Amino acid sequence: MAAVAAVPVVRLSLGRRRASAGAGHSGARVTFVSPTGPRPLPAGGSAPRPCSTQAAPQGINKPVIDRIIRVDHAGEYGANRIYAGQMAVLGRSSVGPVIQQMWNQEKVHLKKFNELMVAYRVRPTVLLPFWNVAGFVLGAGSALLGKKGAMACTVAVEESISDHYNNQIRTLMEEDPEKYKELLQVIKQFRDDEREHHDIGIEHDAEATPAYSVLKTAIQLGCKAAIFLSERI
Ligand SMILES: [Fe+2]
Ligand SMILES: [Fe+2]
Repeated sequence: MAAVAAVPVVRLSLGRRRASAGAGHSGARVTFVSPTGPRPLPAGGSAPRPCSTQAAPQGINKPVIDRIIRVDHAGEYGANRIYAGQMAVLGRSSVGPVIQQMWNQEKVHLKKFNELMVAYRVRPTVLLPFWNVAGFVLGAGSALLGKKGAMACTVAVEESISDHYNNQIRTLMEEDPEKYKELLQVIKQFRDDEREHHDIGIEHDAEATPAYSVLKTAIQLGCKAAIFLSERI
């Protein structure tokens, strides 16, 4: 029972899994970040961690919520890999602390979606192993263009993600704002964080990157494709 609990998210199988929803705080902001990465549930335990998420509300529109949580989890997973790639190249540079700060917030985002996947019994996208590599390559590749290149990547990705979160907020508001109150709270908070990351990229001269608009357009096309696929498979 609950044998999947200790498996890192990248190894989550597509088979049946148990959700362990119970008491826990429901705030959108999580303060603890494990340096070893998030885990959906404690090893071998059936009891939820003190910070695990709440039970999913009854009578939800399951296909819609599945799609939202699956793609958001994939997005936060990819964002973590992008910042990991950037840190591998620029970690010791002057922008290292700035990138690390944004990465720390992405870790919190991913941890929350790991919890939501368990609570709402949503499977991850089958594309996680691909996003693992693609995210890191994008992050490291943009960082090899220099600090401005890394920031241009951040601006492009964060703008795509915050727009995507805005679309989801509209969807949930149309569905049932009361029923999806906590999910809305989480997504709004994360949307604000992503906007902040976008602004940090602009402040760090992202727009001064050579061929900025071409680079941004190419990355955003990739983001759109990633969103489309991760919602569906
Ligand atoms: Fe994020
Ligand atoms: Fe972000």
